[in-house]
Amino acid sequence: MNFEEVFEAKLAKNEFIEPKDWMPDNYRKHLIRQISQHAHSEVVGMLPEGNWISRAPSLRAKLVLLAKVQDEGGHGLYLYTAAETLGISRDEMIDALLTGKAKYSSIFNYPTLTWADVGAIGWLVDGAAIMNQVMLQRTSYGPYSRAMVRICKEESFHQRQGYEIMTHLSFGTPEQKEMAQDAMNRWWFPTLMMFGPPDVESPNSDNALKWRIKRESNDQLRQRFVNQTVIQAEYLGLTIPDPKLKWNESKKGYDYGDPDWSEFKNVIKGNGICNKQRLADRNKAHREGEWVRAAAAAYADKQKHVQAA
Ligand code: 3HC
Repeated sequence: MNFEEVFEAKLAKNEFIEPKDWMPDNYRKHLIRQISQHAHSEVVGMLPEGNWISRAPSLRAKLVLLAKVQDEGGHGLYLYTAAETLGISRDEMIDALLTGKAKYSSIFNYPTLTWADVGAIGWLVDGAAIMNQVMLQRTSYGPYSRAMVRICKEESFHQRQGYEIMTHLSFGTPEQKEMAQDAMNRWWFPTLMMFGPPDVESPNSDNALKWRIKRESNDQLRQRFVNQTVIQAEYLGLTIPDPKLKWNESKKGYDYGDPDWSEFKNVIKGNGICNKQRLADRNKAHREGEWVRAAAAAYADKQKHVQAA
């Protein structure tokens, strides 16, 4: 068998493609694009929530949020490391993010206006991320799959902490309930956008499914997320802001209204509410972190000399 046939045979047997295996250039490029943007999303995702660490309503809430935001940084590291196994350097990826060349999840370009937004992010955004990432545990590229297994364990804590905040507010005072409903109204449709454009408009999905990078399509995951979340919103007594939401017995799922895909396209073009702020914050953090990188590199260099001596 030639290299291509070996690659195809491994996919057919659901075996992992590992860094040292031959792979088509386009498979490699597809993974570098997806994994690096996934990593950027984790790191940029720290910003909207980080905004509330100093404003958390209790010490416990602060500790839980701090732990979650720190987790996201770690998820970014796992994913940058997985992407590096494909031959791209960390510096290239970071440069692509800081210069605005690379994408990150559209959801993080929306502002966190109240404490309920922290709850909505944990419940809805991390809930959507889990839906996608549990599927990605079965992705064909070994390092990506193993990173997903590790990340999914922590994501379930993230979703629980968000849902706990929304539960506290929804069963709290009328003002708290109103704050939870306001967050629901602002985060619902942007969360549906996280799963990507409709399958018919997704230029990458055919290859992703053929190469078993994705195991389910954008629309399939979005549908599963809606079905799961409606019940949770009902328990909270929150209204999903979608007049088209309706149980469809024949498909055993909810019919629902589409997000505003022109808004989605505008946000991923860089024109969302917070895009500029997020990039400015990431660039500032990168500049201010220069001394840490220099110290770590100096220490690593010294260690090399010590070992060589
Ligand atoms: N935000 C920004 N860009 C998006 C997007 C979104 N929500 N959805 C799709 N896009 C981009 C794609 O990157 C692609 O652009 P590109 O070719 O320049 O990269 C274009 O829109 C077309 O989309 P496709 O559906 O064809 O692209 P994919 O096949 O890559 O599917 C995806 C998009 C479903 C996001 C897929 O890339 C994926 O599963 N990525 C891994 C999961 C991920 O990145 N999740 C982001 C959230 S991580 C997170 O939420 C952290 C959590 O801890 C809170």
